[in-house]
Amino acid sequence: MNLVPVKYNFEYERKLKVCFIGAGGHSFRNVYPTFQYAPVDLAAICDSDGDRAAAYARQFGAKAHYTDYNEMFEKEKPDAVFIVTSYHPDGRVQATDIAMDALRAGVHVWMEKPTAASAEEVRQLMLASEQSGRYVMTGLKKMFFPGVAKVKEIISSPEFGTPSSIYVRYPQSMPPFSARADLKNLTSLLDHIYHPGAIIYYLMGKIGKMSYDWEAVNGGSVTNLRFLSGAIGTLHMTAGIAGSSPLERLEVIGQGANVVLENGVHLTYYRKLSGKRPYGRTGSYLVDEQEAPLHWEPEFSLGQLYNKNIFMLGYAPEVLHFCESVLAGQPPQKGTLDASLEIAKLFEAYRTTPEGVVSVVNEA
Ligand SMILES: NC(=O)c1ccc[n+]([C@@H]2O[C@H](COP(=O)([O-])OP(=O)(O)OC[C@H]3O[C@@H](n4cnc5c(N)ncnc54)[C@H](O)[C@@H]3O)[C@@H](O)[C@H]2O)c1
Repeated sequence: MNLVPVKYNFEYERKLKVCFIGAGGHSFRNVYPTFQYAPVDLAAICDSDGDRAAAYARQFGAKAHYTDYNEMFEKEKPDAVFIVTSYHPDGRVQATDIAMDALRAGVHVWMEKPTAASAEEVRQLMLASEQSGRYVMTGLKKMFFPGVAKVKEIISSPEFGTPSSIYVRYPQSMPPFSARADLKNLTSLLDHIYHPGAIIYYLMGKIGKMSYDWEAVNGGSVTNLRFLSGAIGTLHMTAGIAGSSPLERLEVIGQGANVVLENGVHLTYYRKLSGKRPYGRTGSYLVDEQEAPLHWEPEFSLGQLYNKNIFMLGYAPEVLHFCESVLAGQPPQKGTLDASLEIAKLFEAYRTTPEGVVSVVNEA
């Protein structure tokens, strides 16, 4: 467990000089506010809409604002840039091109998901990152959810055994197969596949094969996964759930043990029992304390950091991980381009594979 006290921005001795591209809704709510807890000196903000850039600069304490990010790189010479933009009219990701320009300018990149609309574009970013010696990290926030990070810790422990199967639920619709060739019809899938995709890759590694069934009422789907590790999994895309419903459920099975994360925060670890409880002969469901299930959930009384959404949903931890990595001269370990590449391959599998057909995502 990470018990290192969180520092406030002004308490850091060393900070990165950063610029920010994008003055939109998500960044206002969830990304700029993380800078309160990160070693950053926000020098300038750029948005194509100059009024928004000026308003955000005033709101978040940047000294300058721009409408042209190349001019901003030239004048400000930042260590790193945060990119939170949107989509081109053809459905491609604006941030992919902007990240390439940032690398050419010698600037480290933190970008919101989706990293790119194709595996090929992720490979181009990998090459550009290598050639420039600058890092690219995507905000794969699910890997930074404290609940998901705890699941990872639990399933990596010897007591849990080998992770053998996984279930991930995420409400997402897919259009019919015939519509998926046109990227413009896939903005919603591209926007969201990085969430369950990040959980699946983080916990189980690379997918070997996948196949899925799809329903036409809501565009929901059930995907069977076979991982290179030999483990299996299901991604249930529950399009059509109620707007009042929690979105997510995650379960990983080990050997005599399993762990369940409900709604991103309710975590239960059903630990391996030492003995058998004979069927028809066991009078109590209450197992001994030392092997009883463990359950965690957040409290919502105190004005703490852990019950703020920017911590619970991984935003502050992901930004901190990026800043600390760049300051240490070490590549980020989470939100990597390797992870984005695997998610882009899964996205492409849905684009190019009709329902019921097995797609090889990675050769065994
Ligand atoms: N991780 C999450 O929980 C989460 C949640 C919501 C959105 N997002 C992601 O955040 C991103 C943006 O979301 P949003 O709601 O803030 O979008 P938005 O459309 O509100 O904002 C995007 C901003 O980028 C600006 N922009 C685009 N191209 C630019 C350029 N070349 N130069 C300067 N400015 C440019 C636009 O003018 C706009 O103000 C998307 O990638 C989305 O997938 C992530």
